[in-house]
Amino acid sequence: DANDTEKGLYPHYMLKEIDEQPSVMRKIISTYTAENGSVAIDEHLVEKIAKSDRIYVVACGTSWHAGLVGKKMIEELANIPVEVHLASEIGYDMPLLSERPFFIFISQSGETADSRQVLVKVNELNLPSLTITNVKGSTLSREAENTLLLHAGPEIAVASTKAYTSQIAVMLYLAKAIGDYKNLKLAKSFDIAHELGLVASAMDTLVSEKDKLAEISRDYLLTTRNAFYIGRGLDYAVSLEGALKLKEISYIQTEGFAAGELKHGTIALIEKDTPVLAIITGEDTASHTRGNVKEVESRGAKTMVIAMEGLQKEGDQIIIPELHALLTPLATVVPLQLISYFACLQRDLDVDKPRNLAKSVTVE
Ligand code: G6P
Repeated sequence: DANDTEKGLYPHYMLKEIDEQPSVMRKIISTYTAENGSVAIDEHLVEKIAKSDRIYVVACGTSWHAGLVGKKMIEELANIPVEVHLASEIGYDMPLLSERPFFIFISQSGETADSRQVLVKVNELNLPSLTITNVKGSTLSREAENTLLLHAGPEIAVASTKAYTSQIAVMLYLAKAIGDYKNLKLAKSFDIAHELGLVASAMDTLVSEKDKLAEISRDYLLTTRNAFYIGRGLDYAVSLEGALKLKEISYIQTEGFAAGELKHGTIALIEKDTPVLAIITGEDTASHTRGNVKEVESRGAKTMVIAMEGLQKEGDQIIIPELHALLTPLATVVPLQLISYFACLQRDLDVDKPRNLAKSVTVE
């Protein structure tokens, strides 16, 4: 049960929270779908955002990574340009704002000080805002004009998992609601409950592949000092999140890179057996990323591919069931979470409480 704060039979909260993701997706579908099938988000909020000319997403850490995915969804379904900012940067260095900006704060805890200092400034400027958070009544929720809740249940492990996927799902509902409000064709024809239902089923399959993922983790990560995750577009966004997940609990230096940027510098770091994990779900970019995999392979890298059904090639280690192109991050991140979990266990480290990190950071 996602609302349980006990581990139950689970050895770690992180594993429990990874496993809860399919049911959290289903909970979001039932909460955000109205009886007539439309999106259950307050129409005043939807109208306000629809009338803005640019959305500024502000967040930290994993929530910032979710924002990168949300940007794509909002731009595609709602046709409003989106900028995604790190709270600790934008707060001290405001970009030139558009005429009718709208601010969206993404925060699992709703308590992150870096994000809050930006919201204080946004309120001083009298600009409209929304907080997307897991915690009702949290500081960011109270101080923003509007709130949307994640309904993910308490997330206790420091490494965020179900909050990431629920943030993306809630932003998808928001994007769909705005697009519907504006009568946009792409949004109207997007059957969100159906597509997210497919995601939940794909997650069910992926979380059942633990043995295989533990083996992959042992094979690729047990003794390495570093690792690289690559992808393009949304796969790049997930590379960043996958790399963060691995580094924060296994202490393996892991970086996510835009696959095409490798050749402009990072490829110099590839040595014999350096793990390079590629995510391939984009039809238009698959062959380019395949090319990057070959390039690092020929320099000694030990490569691994997560591919979506239909784009897979013989030898790919992990196959993601076919999903709507906007929703692949919700599935590709799951094996990456599990690989990180097992890498941490295999190194005998503290899964739920990694060194030097806090679940919620209340200092700037
Ligand atoms: C901390 C946590 C991260 C989280 C970040 C933002 O650094 O360790 O897991 O992504 O804060 O937290 P928030 O609650 O604002 O999403």
